[in-house]
Amino acid sequence: MPTEFISLTFPNDSNELYPKVGAPADPAFLTRYARTLDDYGFKYTLLPYDAGGFDPWTQGAYIAAVTRNLKIIIALRPNTVYPTVAAKALATLDQLSNGRAVVHFIAGGSDAEQAREGDFLTKDQRYARLEEYIKILKRAWASTEPFDWDGTYYQFKNYSNRVRPVHGAVPISVGGSSAEAYRIGGSLADIFGLWGEPLKDTKEQIDKIYAAAEQAGRTDRPRIWVTFRPIVAETEELAWAKAHRTLDALNGNRPVLEKTGRNFAPADKAPENVGSQRLLEIAKRGDVQDRALWYPTVTAANARGATTALVGSPQTLADAILDYVDLGAELISIRGYDNYNDVVDYGRYILPLVYKGIAEREAKAKANAANGESAV
Ligand SMILES: Cc1cc2nc3c(=O)[nH]c(=O)nc-3n(C[C@H](O)[C@H](O)[C@H](O)COP(=O)(O)O)c2cc1C
Repeated sequence: MPTEFISLTFPNDSNELYPKVGAPADPAFLTRYARTLDDYGFKYTLLPYDAGGFDPWTQGAYIAAVTRNLKIIIALRPNTVYPTVAAKALATLDQLSNGRAVVHFIAGGSDAEQAREGDFLTKDQRYARLEEYIKILKRAWASTEPFDWDGTYYQFKNYSNRVRPVHGAVPISVGGSSAEAYRIGGSLADIFGLWGEPLKDTKEQIDKIYAAAEQAGRTDRPRIWVTFRPIVAETEELAWAKAHRTLDALNGNRPVLEKTGRNFAPADKAPENVGSQRLLEIAKRGDVQDRALWYPTVTAANARGATTALVGSPQTLADAILDYVDLGAELISIRGYDNYNDVVDYGRYILPLVYKGIAEREAKAKANAANGESAV
């Protein structure tokens, strides 16, 4: 499978550097942003979910209508939509976009956030519900006959789905870093989403996901998605200066960002989700890890969401990304801090270098194979 790039979409130009509290969805911005992703060859965009935020489904349908190739990843918390409704909504979006719908599942990483929309299950129960939910979606897309469901979290009778995804099923992604996330994502997901951690820690997570897939008797494995927040400039020196300016802005904007809710959690409360706990632990090991992984942006946001930066020149960042490609990551999510301008920078300067690195690796592998063959 090829290496593909993901980015994240927000419906207006408010961002962590220039936050605009209460800014409405801006169709002109959304069109320009999504088309820029499409034009520069990003393959996916994630529409994230939070209890008080914009709706991913309507944004996803809008983006599908103004782009040609970009796949639309709908972030979905099971508590927000009954599974039979989600099965039809995803299949409908898939048909309207010519097979470009993807769903990214979030079990829910905070009790307080889940309670905002009436979900009072424990985290273990939320993961158990997620497992049941994914099984229902698969059955709804595959079954030609009406079926009943008598599970722990869902019961229904004689459900018959007439809306089929273009390729039989919509790709299913699962994100998280707890044992339950590995087990459920490893056994049922097509894609497994991770936040940026050092290579060694990422490798450990990938091994656990693959082990879960094997234990579930799968012959294939989920494709691995890793997420970074690159800070790029022409030279190393300029990039580091930009990184420190970014950090100052994150800290300075903190009171406003807490109001927007986006990616900022109160600094005095430890996160409940394992993914964020891991990031904060790793941050204690040092500001810079591996080639260019930078952790002060993680601590500044109390590890709420994808917060690990990569800092450097385009070549350094491409090399850092290629390290993860070599580790087995096929989906690379990159979003900066100045969303639109960063997409342009990444599209112009980073994606081509990553593709060049991959082409060099493929040529080398081919030459090695040919040498091996002629030696026989
Ligand atoms: C790539 C990726 C994207 C995510 N997107 C969201 C999101 O849009 N909304 C959200 O509430 N959580 C999101 N999460 C967070 C987790 O899915 C969530 O905290 C999880 O349900 C529990 O995490 P844990 O298993 O690490 O404890 C995302 C996680 C990853 C890895």
